[in-house]
Formats: sequence, C-alpha cells, structure tokens
Amino acid sequence: MRQVMVAGNWKMNGSSESVKELIAGIKQGMDSAPDTEIVVCPPAVYIPRVSGAVDGTSIKVGSQNICDEDKGAFTGEISGDMLKDVGCEYAIIGHSERRALYGESDELVARRFAAARRNGIKPVFCIGETLEEREAGVTNDVCARQIDAVIALEGVEALADGVIAYEPVWAIGTGKVATPEQAQEAHAFIRGKIAALNADVAEGLRILYGGSMNPGNAKDLIGQADIDGGLIGGASLKAEDFLAICQAGS
Ligand code: PGA
Repeated sequence: MRQVMVAGNWKMNGSSESVKELIAGIKQGMDSAPDTEIVVCPPAVYIPRVSGAVDGTSIKVGSQNICDEDKGAFTGEISGDMLKDVGCEYAIIGHSERRALYGESDELVARRFAAARRNGIKPVFCIGETLEEREAGVTNDVCARQIDAVIALEGVEALADGVIAYEPVWAIGTGKVATPEQAQEAHAFIRGKIAALNADVAEGLRILYGGSMNPGNAKDLIGQADIDGGLIGGASLKAEDFLAICQAGS
C-alpha cells in the first residue's frame, strides 16, 4: 500500500508572522489526517523556522528547489547539504514555474534530481504538459521525455527514492482542475511507462497530482487508483483548506 502524501508548495508567499500562524494551524489540526504524510515546502528563508516549529511532529519539510552542484561559486543557489542541515527531507524539483520562467531544461532538472539523491533528500519530481501540448495530443510524450531525462542520468531505480508530481501546467493556479479521469489517465500512463522498465519501482512509486487541487475536489482525485496524493499550491496557504485536503487522503 502506498501511503498518501499531501505536500504544500507555498511558493513565494508569506512573512515571518504568517508562516508562524500557518504552521501552528496545521499542527493543531494534523491529528484529523493520521494516515497522510504531510509535507510543507516554505520559501527557503523560512525553512529553519518551520523546521523548528514542526520538530517532534510527523510533519516533514521540503524545499522548493535544490542546486545541482554541491559546493562553491553558485551565487543564489542552495545546496543539498545545506537543505539537509536545516531539516529538509524533500525537495521540489522541476516545477513548471522553474522550467517556464527560469528556463530549467529537462537535463538540469535531472541533475537537480541527482543532487537531491546524493544528499539523502527525496525529490518531488514535477512533470506535466502545457495546454498547447495537451491540445496537440502529446501529453504522454511530454511526460515520458521529462521522466526519461532522469532515467538517462540516474537509472529507473532512482525513481524509488522520491515521488513524482504530475502537474498539468494549464491546471496550476488557474482554478481549472484536471478531471479525475484525465488525471488518472496520465498517472496510469506514467506508472505503466515505469513498470515497463521496473515493475517493483512502479508499484511502490507515489505519483501525486498537482494543479488547483482544493478541499472540494481532493477526495475524487486522490480516490483514483494511481493518484497517491497531491502537491498543493494556493490551497496550502490556509491551514483549514490544506488540512481538509490532507483529510481527504486519510
Ligand atoms: P495550485 O499549484 O494548487 O495553486 O494550482 C500547484 C503547484 O504549483 O504545485
């Protein structure tokens, strides 16, 4: 059985004060979702504060990116070692905002995946198609290409060390959620593609859905056979909404 995981991607939101309140709210209500693995991914500057606040609870902390190199002259980057040092267990990798707005290629994303692994951090590896690509009927090709970049560098077994987040770009922050059927179809393709190379890895791998997941649609999405949780943007900024999604997985 794959444990449901719900991860909050806070993106570039929050302040010292609001982060304190948000994490206090999540801690207070987390017992209502005992079977869900709860992860929060704050902006990097707030990671130490959040790690301190969740210490002694089962809430895990993740970063929103990770440098592909381990040390040295990489201004503005944060290494896996540093993330580990401040309590990160996960790192989001290849988010579509990083790919689209900051030009991260499949190859760079794969190198970041490798950096997470060698530093003992679990990658939350994001993939997904744009609206244009969906309309052109190449959703599966895009997902396959993005996954293949990691497999080429690290081998299929490496996928067992993290989770995949399928996030159709057209559904992110738009309120336009994929239907449970659309999402399940993509998730089944992803699992099937990996199963063709290694059935055990595919069976154990958690594939999260991301893109306008909210308390109203979470249960139907997570209820699909190949959807093992969610990567939540907007709805993760309110403790009540985030907890309701966590409960949908419990
Ligand atoms: P959203 O973002 O839930 O606001 O659509 C999801 C994500 O970008 O991970």
